[in-house]
Amino acid sequence: MRINSLNFKNFRNLKNISFEPHSEMNVIFGENAQGKTNIIEAIWSFTGAKSFRGAKDEELLNFDAEKSEIYCNFISEGIEKEIEIEITDKRKAFLNGKALKSPSKLAGNLNAIVFSPQDLRLLTDGPKVRRKFLDTAICQLYPNYIEILREYNRAVMQRNKIIKDVRNYPEINDILDSFEEKIAENGEKIIKYRLRYIEILKEFIPKIYGGISSEKEFLEIEYIPSFKNLSLLENLKIRRQEDMYSAKTSVGPHRDDLDFKINGISAKNYGSQGQKRSVALCLKLSEAEVIKKNTGETPICLLDDIMSELDINRQNFILNHIKGMQTFLSCCDPKSVENLKAGKSFRIDKGEIAECISI
Ligand SMILES: Nc1ncnc2c1ncn2[C@@H]1O[C@H](COP(=O)(O)OP(=O)(O)OP(=O)(O)O)[C@@H](O)[C@H]1O
Ligand SMILES: [Mg+2]
Repeated sequence: MRINSLNFKNFRNLKNISFEPHSEMNVIFGENAQGKTNIIEAIWSFTGAKSFRGAKDEELLNFDAEKSEIYCNFISEGIEKEIEIEITDKRKAFLNGKALKSPSKLAGNLNAIVFSPQDLRLLTDGPKVRRKFLDTAICQLYPNYIEILREYNRAVMQRNKIIKDVRNYPEINDILDSFEEKIAENGEKIIKYRLRYIEILKEFIPKIYGGISSEKEFLEIEYIPSFKNLSLLENLKIRRQEDMYSAKTSVGPHRDDLDFKINGISAKNYGSQGQKRSVALCLKLSEAEVIKKNTGETPICLLDDIMSELDINRQNFILNHIKGMQTFLSCCDPKSVENLKAGKSFRIDKGEIAECISI
């Protein structure tokens, strides 16, 4: 996978910039608040996923503009492709000039991984972030998964809405039956996809984490389901009474979690800041390996402002590991990547490319 050219118009503070990235390393540097992360975020948009910063569509549009247009020309499996996204209060995506039903339909065209300091949340926050990591990764690889997730979430919402009324209107029981069947049907599929994904991740995690920790530590990852016995449908029925009081569905993949153990000990509960950061980094680099294995192509690697947070060994590990992947790396101080053999550096100033240096 390789991006040939990019153009961003009115995307946040990027008024109108165009550039042709290097096939391997692209360093985006500059002072704070100049637009470096905005560039990374714009490139990530071409995957079809929502902003990795959790931004709403309208926040991506420049304050003074009515429409943003971002464009990417790239090569995948030897074929040149074009993606264009128009952003107003929502996003509209075009693939090779043809309008798509929704931006999520872009999934599987331009594959990328993104790693930013916020990914530490994978270890510090609640299970929602970890489920999102899994789901976003799976959506890129298996675009059908998006619809399964959507159907599932819709059915859970519907069940939550009516379950509290069951006591007053017993006839609702029949409708609940049909929602629970829908939840179970899609929920079992989601769990299968996630377990399969984790099995593939596991092929890469020991080696990558070993490399990050200079072979001192061993990382294990485990899927924690919200139920252990019986089928999802049976569990939903058993919990119906209880769920009536909370008006929430207490079982299913929207309640599942991931656990990480370093040398047998929970990284979430006992890991140091550095260890947590290493786990997050390991997950992202493993995600790239899974994409490579499944698609036969290296994904685009987006590294937002992470070098200053890592010690020199980890910095070198990443730089070695990402060789062969087209990378966009943002940083304030380009010194952290001064040993690069080849690539381009772009100095960003007030949303513009002030300087482009070829190495
Ligand atoms: N919708 C928008 N319209 C115009 N400007 C925006 C919009 N959204 C964000 N900005 C501005 O974009 C600027 C650059 O943001 P960005 O996060 O890319 O900075 P950065 O170069 O990554 O800085 P840092 O080194 O601090 O991470 C910020 O000053 C922000 O106010
Ligand atoms: Mg930034």
